[in-house]
Parts: sequence; structure tokens; C-alpha cells
Amino acid sequence: MRLHVVDHPLVAHKLTVLRDRRTPSMIFRQLAEELVMLLAYEATRDVAVESVQVETPVATTTGTTLARPRPLVVPILRAGLGMLEGMTKMAPSAEVGFLGMARNEETLDIVTYAERLPADLTGRHVFVLDPMLATGGTLIEAIRFLYERGAERVTCICLLGAPEGVARLEEALGEHDVDLYLAAVDERLDERSYIVPGLGDAGDRLYGLAE
Ligand code: URA
Repeated sequence: MRLHVVDHPLVAHKLTVLRDRRTPSMIFRQLAEELVMLLAYEATRDVAVESVQVETPVATTTGTTLARPRPLVVPILRAGLGMLEGMTKMAPSAEVGFLGMARNEETLDIVTYAERLPADLTGRHVFVLDPMLATGGTLIEAIRFLYERGAERVTCICLLGAPEGVARLEEALGEHDVDLYLAAVDERLDERSYIVPGLGDAGDRLYGLAE
């Protein structure tokens, strides 16, 4: 796995406002979108492209377009939805699929409760969106699922990670080629598996259920 922590003043600034407990959902959503755009810029740096001819008002020249099959963007429900708009603004021709995953609190297994993806992902570069890499359980299952479907390459974009989650991903995905982009790796997980200092529950912060 290749870990990329995007070190940029605008990334750090937006993340700081996201962390602030007083930031209301409306601003949180807008900033999350902007932050994803910055992370997506880095995460798509080596996406496959092909040449196209383009006619300018002056001459014909060779330009660049995203190669086919087009990249597939997969937000993990629910909180990953808050990252979708930023990603599709940066890569509007990408296709979008959905994965709903949650932990069964009795067995602690990760359960896939919703899935809307192409049946065959052969040759596809998949961008997985999940704001908080905490224990890593969901992301590991999602990545395995996508590779089992035939994905050629998986790039994960998260806003924040915990060292525990990054280590677990690294250990669990040894044989898979994964790039992980984050705005920061925080200190640790607490006893509830929240990232410390983190930004709280990303789904609640995005969708307005915070205290
Ligand atoms: N999920 C969240 O939304 N926040 C955390 O801190 C950890 C997991």
C-alpha cells in the first residue's frame, strides 16, 4: 500500500475548520467538498488518459481525455456520500457506484447492506470515498470486494486516518495494490474507535445529527 498524506496549506486550513465543533453542517458539507477536490487532484495524478484530437478556434491539436473504461467512484454509505460531489466535480466523466457497509454490533463483522456496482470491474480504476479511516475494517472489506469483482486498481480517498487503521490496512492488503490519500493521520483511536483529535462522527457532522 502507498500512503499519501497531502501536505498543503489549503488542505490543512480546510481540515482545521472541519475539526472545529462549532462548524455547522452547511459549512462542513461545503468544506468537505472543497477538501475532497484538493485530495482528488493529487489522487488522480496518474489516472489513465488517452489522446484526443480537439479543434480550437485556431487549429486542430492533440489533447487529453480520461481513458476507457472510465474510472469508477464508489462512496461508502453513509458518510462517503458527503465526498461524492467534490470527486465528481474533479472527474465529471467518471462513473459512480455505491457500497453500503456497516458493522454488525453483535458479531463485529462488516456487512454489505447495499451495493450498486457494475457486475464486472475488470480493468477498472476504482476510487473509494470514505471520510474516516478509523479501525480500517470497512475499507478493507470494500477493497477486497472490489478486487474480487475484478478491479485493476483501487485508490482510497479519506479525509482523516488513525495510525491503527493505516497499519491494519497495510497488513491486511499486502497482496493488493492500493493507494491511500489522506489530509492527515491523527494521534490514535479512543475506546469508542473515534479518531483523536479527529472531527467527530463524520456522518452526523455532514447530515446534521451532531449534538
Ligand atoms: N467514524 C467517524 O465518523 N468518526 C470517527 O472518528 C471514526 C469513525
